Amino acid sequence: MQSDIEKILYDRNVIAQRVHDLGAKIAQDLQSNQIDAAEIVLVPILTGSIVFLADLIRHLPQKIRIGVVSVRSYHGKSTSSKDLALRSEIPQSLAGKHVIIVDDILDTGKTLALVTSIISEQNPASLKTCVLMRKRIPGAPELQADYIGFDIPDEFVVGYGLDYDDYYRNLPDIVTLRPDAL
Ligand code: XMP
Repeated sequence: MQSDIEKILYDRNVIAQRVHDLGAKIAQDLQSNQIDAAEIVLVPILTGSIVFLADLIRHLPQKIRIGVVSVRSYHGKSTSSKDLALRSEIPQSLAGKHVIIVDDILDTGKTLALVTSIISEQNPASLKTCVLMRKRIPGAPELQADYIGFDIPDEFVVGYGLDYDDYYRNLPDIVTLRPDAL
Protein backbone atom coordinates (compact mmCIF):
# COMPACT_ATOMS: atom_id res chain seq x y z
CA MET A 1 0.00 0.00 0.00
CA GLN A 2 2.80 2.42 0.89
CA SER A 3 4.38 1.93 -2.54
CA ASP A 4 1.18 3.22 -4.19
CA ILE A 5 1.60 6.64 -2.59
CA GLU A 6 2.76 9.47 -4.83
CA LYS A 7 2.89 12.27 -2.27
CA ILE A 8 1.59 13.16 1.15
CA LEU A 9 -0.68 16.21 0.96
CA TYR A 10 -1.41 16.42 4.72
CA ASP A 11 0.29 14.24 7.28
CA ARG A 12 -1.45 12.91 10.39
CA ASN A 13 -0.08 15.65 12.65
CA VAL A 14 -1.31 18.46 10.41
CA ILE A 15 -4.71 16.75 10.11
CA ALA A 16 -4.95 16.27 13.89
CA GLN A 17 -4.22 19.95 14.52
CA ARG A 18 -6.74 21.14 11.93
CA VAL A 19 -9.47 18.79 13.17
CA HIS A 20 -8.80 19.99 16.71
CA ASP A 21 -9.22 23.61 15.58
CA LEU A 22 -12.39 22.83 13.60
CA GLY A 23 -13.88 21.00 16.58
CA ALA A 24 -13.04 23.90 18.89
CA LYS A 25 -14.72 26.36 16.51
CA ILE A 26 -17.87 24.22 16.19
CA ALA A 27 -18.03 23.71 19.96
CA GLN A 28 -17.63 27.43 20.52
CA ASP A 29 -20.37 28.30 18.01
CA LEU A 30 -22.75 25.79 19.59
CA GLN A 31 -22.02 27.18 23.02
CA SER A 32 -22.35 30.83 22.03
CA ASN A 33 -25.68 30.10 20.33
CA GLN A 34 -26.78 28.44 23.59
CA ILE A 35 -27.87 25.33 21.77
CA ASP A 36 -29.27 22.68 24.12
CA ALA A 37 -27.35 19.44 24.24
CA ALA A 38 -30.30 17.22 23.35
CA GLU A 39 -30.89 19.15 20.14
CA ILE A 40 -27.57 18.59 18.36
CA VAL A 41 -27.37 15.93 15.63
CA LEU A 42 -24.31 15.30 13.49
CA VAL A 43 -25.11 13.68 10.15
CA PRO A 44 -21.99 12.09 8.63
CA ILE A 45 -22.12 11.07 4.98
CA LEU A 46 -20.74 7.54 4.69
CA THR A 47 -18.28 6.12 4.10
CA GLY A 48 -15.57 8.68 3.49
CA SER A 49 -16.29 10.81 6.56
CA ILE A 50 -15.98 8.08 9.20
CA VAL A 51 -12.39 8.76 10.29
CA PHE A 52 -12.92 12.52 10.24
CA LEU A 53 -16.14 12.17 12.24
CA ALA A 54 -14.50 9.90 14.81
CA ASP A 55 -11.81 12.47 15.47
CA LEU A 56 -14.04 15.54 15.22
CA ILE A 57 -16.67 14.44 17.76
CA ARG A 58 -14.01 13.90 20.39
CA HIS A 59 -13.37 17.65 20.33
CA LEU A 60 -17.02 18.43 21.04
CA PRO A 61 -17.84 18.55 24.74
CA GLN A 62 -21.58 18.88 24.06
CA LYS A 63 -24.04 16.04 24.28
CA ILE A 64 -24.64 15.06 20.65
CA ARG A 65 -26.42 12.46 18.59
CA ILE A 66 -25.26 10.93 15.31
CA GLY A 67 -27.52 9.98 12.39
CA VAL A 68 -25.69 8.57 9.38
CA VAL A 69 -26.60 8.83 5.71
CA SER A 70 -25.06 6.97 2.82
CA VAL A 71 -24.64 8.50 -0.61
CA ARG A 72 -22.74 6.91 -3.43
CA SER A 73 -21.24 9.32 -5.91
CA TYR A 74 -18.17 7.45 -7.16
CA HIS A 75 -18.77 3.98 -8.47
CA GLY A 76 -16.22 1.18 -8.40
CA LYS A 77 -12.82 2.23 -9.55
CA SER A 78 -13.86 5.46 -11.22
CA THR A 79 -12.41 8.75 -9.97
CA SER A 80 -14.82 10.91 -11.92
CA SER A 81 -18.24 12.03 -10.80
CA LYS A 82 -21.26 9.83 -11.54
CA ASP A 83 -24.92 10.13 -10.75
CA LEU A 84 -25.72 10.29 -7.08
CA ALA A 85 -27.73 7.65 -5.29
CA LEU A 86 -29.00 7.79 -1.74
CA ARG A 87 -28.20 4.40 -0.22
CA SER A 88 -29.81 4.83 3.17
CA GLU A 89 -32.74 6.42 4.91
CA ILE A 90 -32.21 10.00 5.99
CA PRO A 91 -32.43 10.12 9.80
CA GLN A 92 -35.95 11.06 10.84
CA SER A 93 -37.02 13.46 13.60
CA LEU A 94 -34.62 16.22 12.68
CA ALA A 95 -37.39 18.80 13.02
CA GLY A 96 -36.37 21.47 15.51
CA LYS A 97 -32.88 19.99 15.86
CA HIS A 98 -29.55 21.70 15.22
CA VAL A 99 -28.03 19.60 12.47
CA ILE A 100 -24.44 19.56 11.23
CA ILE A 101 -23.80 17.53 8.06
CA VAL A 102 -20.25 16.14 8.00
CA ASP A 103 -18.56 15.09 4.77
CA ASP A 104 -15.03 14.20 3.75
CA ILE A 105 -14.66 16.31 0.64
CA LEU A 106 -16.58 18.97 -1.27
CA ASP A 107 -15.89 18.45 -4.95
CA THR A 108 -18.73 19.30 -7.36
CA GLY A 109 -21.02 20.03 -4.38
CA LYS A 110 -23.74 17.63 -5.58
CA THR A 111 -23.55 15.32 -2.57
CA LEU A 112 -23.83 18.10 -0.01
CA ALA A 113 -26.59 19.80 -2.01
CA LEU A 114 -28.61 16.56 -2.13
CA VAL A 115 -28.31 15.79 1.59
CA THR A 116 -28.85 19.45 2.57
CA SER A 117 -32.04 19.71 0.53
CA ILE A 118 -33.51 16.46 1.89
CA ILE A 119 -32.71 17.38 5.50
CA SER A 120 -34.10 20.90 5.02
CA GLU A 121 -37.50 19.36 4.27
CA GLN A 122 -37.61 18.17 7.89
CA ASN A 123 -37.39 21.78 9.15
CA PRO A 124 -34.38 21.57 11.45
CA ALA A 125 -33.86 24.57 13.77
CA SER A 126 -30.49 25.12 12.08
CA LEU A 127 -28.50 23.33 9.42
CA LYS A 128 -24.76 23.66 8.97
CA THR A 129 -22.22 21.84 6.84
CA CYS A 130 -18.70 20.74 7.76
CA VAL A 131 -16.20 19.29 5.29
CA LEU A 132 -12.66 18.15 5.88
CA MET A 133 -11.57 19.29 2.41
CA ARG A 134 -12.81 21.50 -0.38
CA LYS A 135 -11.42 21.05 -3.88
CA ARG A 136 -10.58 24.29 -5.61
CA ILE A 137 -11.09 23.99 -9.34
CA PRO A 138 -9.54 26.92 -11.21
CA GLY A 139 -12.22 29.06 -12.87
CA ALA A 140 -15.10 27.25 -11.13
CA PRO A 141 -17.31 29.09 -8.65
CA GLU A 142 -16.24 28.70 -5.02
CA LEU A 143 -18.48 26.20 -3.20
CA GLN A 144 -19.43 27.00 0.36
CA ALA A 145 -19.59 25.02 3.58
CA ASP A 146 -19.85 26.46 7.09
CA TYR A 147 -16.73 24.68 8.32
CA ILE A 148 -13.85 23.73 6.00
CA GLY A 149 -10.68 21.94 7.06
CA PHE A 150 -8.44 22.36 4.02
CA ASP A 151 -8.70 23.86 0.55
CA ILE A 152 -6.96 21.40 -1.77
CA PRO A 153 -5.96 21.45 -5.43
CA ASP A 154 -8.04 19.52 -7.97
CA GLU A 155 -6.36 16.16 -7.36
CA PHE A 156 -7.77 12.78 -6.39
CA VAL A 157 -6.85 12.09 -2.78
CA VAL A 158 -7.15 9.05 -0.53
CA GLY A 159 -6.46 8.17 3.09
CA TYR A 160 -7.95 9.30 6.41
CA GLY A 161 -11.24 7.67 5.37
CA LEU A 162 -11.12 8.48 1.65
CA ASP A 163 -10.87 5.61 -0.78
CA TYR A 164 -10.01 4.47 -4.23
CA ASP A 165 -12.00 1.31 -5.10
CA ASP A 166 -12.74 1.08 -1.34
CA TYR A 167 -9.04 0.74 -0.47
CA TYR A 168 -6.66 3.14 1.31
CA ARG A 169 -9.23 4.42 3.85
CA ASN A 170 -6.93 3.23 6.64
CA LEU A 171 -3.96 5.36 5.58
CA PRO A 172 -3.39 7.86 8.41
CA ASP A 173 -2.27 10.64 6.03
CA ILE A 174 -4.11 12.29 3.12
CA VAL A 175 -2.17 11.36 -0.03
CA THR A 176 -2.27 11.22 -3.80
CA LEU A 177 -1.67 7.91 -5.57
CA ARG A 178 0.88 7.08 -8.23
CA PRO A 179 -0.77 7.00 -11.68
CA ASP A 180 -0.09 3.27 -12.03
CA ALA A 181 -2.08 2.58 -8.82
CA LEU A 182 -5.22 4.22 -10.28
P1 XMP B 1 -19.26 15.97 -4.85
O1 XMP B 1 -18.74 16.08 -6.25
O2 XMP B 1 -20.68 15.49 -4.81
O3 XMP B 1 -18.37 14.84 -4.26
O4 XMP B 1 -19.03 17.23 -4.05
C1 XMP B 1 -18.27 14.56 -2.94
C2 XMP B 1 -17.99 13.10 -2.76
O5 XMP B 1 -17.22 12.57 -3.84
C3 XMP B 1 -16.18 11.77 -3.36
N1 XMP B 1 -14.89 12.37 -3.76
C4 XMP B 1 -13.70 11.85 -3.54
N2 XMP B 1 -13.35 10.71 -2.91
N3 XMP B 1 -11.07 11.23 -3.26
C5 XMP B 1 -12.01 10.41 -2.79
O6 XMP B 1 -11.68 9.39 -2.21
C6 XMP B 1 -11.34 12.40 -3.90
O7 XMP B 1 -10.43 13.13 -4.31
C7 XMP B 1 -12.73 12.71 -4.05
N4 XMP B 1 -13.39 13.76 -4.59
C8 XMP B 1 -14.70 13.52 -4.40
C9 XMP B 1 -16.35 11.70 -1.88
O8 XMP B 1 -17.09 10.54 -1.58
C10 XMP B 1 -17.18 12.91 -1.52
O9 XMP B 1 -18.00 12.70 -0.39
